[in-house]
Amino acid sequence: MCGVSSTIPNWAAPKFILGGGSNIVLTRDLDVVVLRIEIPGIRLLEDRSDAWIVEAGAGVAWHELVQWTIDHGYPGLENLALIPGTVGASPVQNIGAYGVELKDRLDSVEVMDLVTGRPALLPAWVCRFGYRDSVFKHSNFGGLAGKSVITRVRLRCPKPWVPQLSYLDLARKVEQTGITEPSARQIFDWVCEIRRAKLPDPAVIGNAGSFFKNPVVTEDQCRDIIGRDPGIVHYPMPDGSIKLAAGWLIDACGWKGKSVGGAAVYDKQALVLVNRGEARGAEVVTLARAIQESVYGRFGIRLEPEPIVL
Ligand code: EPU
Repeated sequence: MCGVSSTIPNWAAPKFILGGGSNIVLTRDLDVVVLRIEIPGIRLLEDRSDAWIVEAGAGVAWHELVQWTIDHGYPGLENLALIPGTVGASPVQNIGAYGVELKDRLDSVEVMDLVTGRPALLPAWVCRFGYRDSVFKHSNFGGLAGKSVITRVRLRCPKPWVPQLSYLDLARKVEQTGITEPSARQIFDWVCEIRRAKLPDPAVIGNAGSFFKNPVVTEDQCRDIIGRDPGIVHYPMPDGSIKLAAGWLIDACGWKGKSVGGAAVYDKQALVLVNRGEARGAEVVTLARAIQESVYGRFGIRLEPEPIVL
């Protein structure tokens, strides 16, 4: 009988799919097969009367895809410029910025079943998108985490193009520049400027973007908090609930610039935790827990981490 060499990978082992790694905090070695997806390619799949359908391989850098659509005259993704990570990771946490979420632009996702190897095309509704959430983030209740790998993503750039300028930072750009009818490229440039001014580039300073989700509370809870802290930044949601700016809550607790070992709270955006050098995953987690406790202590709100912590 042949023995099994320890160098032969165990293909039946649980698998973890790695995109760009920019939304993952590693606190330990993983005893799983890690698949790094490098599928390239961007193409216009269809030029329909209601939209351009653009398809990109899961390994393409997200920003490269946004840049390509702008350069080729298919507007619609400009508000999502400069988001770190890969195209394949974009549906996992339903990336979003400046008034647009991936779910608003997703046509379908091509996946491969990790057991059978069979491909499938999932329409957007199957992805069960929520705020920084999808079917790909969960393994129970029919979730696809560890069961399917995203191989390609099809984006819908709607016709006619309608600029999305509702987010405060973009409305300010319109006011400051006097450009009331910006092109998609202009919005792309503004979004890049805004992000560069307040968010650290993960290629330069290690970070996972926003470390916590913006918490959603009831109107009653919000009224109570506003009563105590009238300055709190909050946004009414269509269903009557209120979204609070987690960055504001953390900032109000005095965390900007504070650190635990090499892990620190970014001094221009309190919602972002950064690696100042040799931070270990455990230090990032300790800092995150301390922030959660202090926000809970002052506001009675539990912050939920946004990145995947392993
Ligand atoms: N604020 C403070 N202090 C801070 C940080 C923020 O007072 O230290 C206030 C700001 O003044 C602003 C409000 O909080 O009034 C919201 O801040 P910002 O506009 O920077 O947006 P955010 O809610 O903190 C979200 C997303 C970002 C996305 C931006 C723009 C989440 C968790 N984060 O941040 O997404 O780029 O809006 O749309 O929803 C990410 O998910 O990794 C990410 C960077």
